[in-house]
Amino acid sequence: MHTGQPLGSGRTADVYAIDKSWVLRRYRDGTDATPELAVMAYLAASGFPVPRIGPPADPSMPVCDLVLQRLAGPTMAEALTAGTLGGPEAAETLARLLRELHTIPPRLSNDPYDRIIHLDLHPENVMLTPHGPVVIDWCNASEGPPELDRAMSCLILAQATLAPSLPAASAVRGLLVELAGRLDEDGGIPAEALARARALRAAGPCRTAEELTALDEAVELVAAVGRTAADHPRR
Ligand SMILES: Nc1ncnc2c1ncn2[C@@H]1O[C@H](COP(=O)(O)OP(=O)(O)O)[C@@H](O)[C@H]1O
Ligand SMILES: [Mg+2]
Repeated sequence: MHTGQPLGSGRTADVYAIDKSWVLRRYRDGTDATPELAVMAYLAASGFPVPRIGPPADPSMPVCDLVLQRLAGPTMAEALTAGTLGGPEAAETLARLLRELHTIPPRLSNDPYDRIIHLDLHPENVMLTPHGPVVIDWCNASEGPPELDRAMSCLILAQATLAPSLPAASAVRGLLVELAGRLDEDGGIPAEALARARALRAAGPCRTAEELTALDEAVELVAAVGRTAADHPRR
């Protein structure tokens, strides 16, 4: 399919403008995007902020392509870096999005405790549009216990704080502390959920011995921050 101006790129996908309303999101490795369409359609119908699904403009469109609503605004990560958004406000938004997502009943699971879980909900996957934050990048979405999603968001932030190349590591650590404090009110991060999140991260691609050591440090950081949050609950 014809692609227009590039709008953004993440670890797995490239996003191009189609016109002023729609974008084309394409997995670089050809991953089938069909499963996340069903999740996004269900969430949109449930009132959760996700990009609207567009028309399949081209019937020969490969399965790795999605046509989605074109969103205006920076990602939360960009806004934090630019200083237009503060850590406490970002933490509040992340905690609220996780909480709201986890109020929606599962689409497939027969376990009533299960919820739709994003499993990659962090500042790069939230776009701050004039109509409010919208959660993008549903490729890891699944159904399971909400505390696993909370653990995963914190673990991803903790890994970012330990990345040697990250200039704003202390700001990200501040965000992690703020987020853990707020998540405590929703049930926090039980050790079992953190262990499951670790296993999922460890099963990801390109895990060198150094990366696995750093992952364990990140797990310890989340556990420590979670304990601190439990010791000093927010009012
Ligand atoms: N619906 C959209 N409208 C406008 N830009 C988008 C949209 N979805 C994603 N983007 C841009 O593309 C980038 C990568 O998108 P994302 O879905 O997170 O890909 P990845 O899976 O590679 O992380 C985002 O950071 C954002 O800048
Ligand atoms: Mg992304």
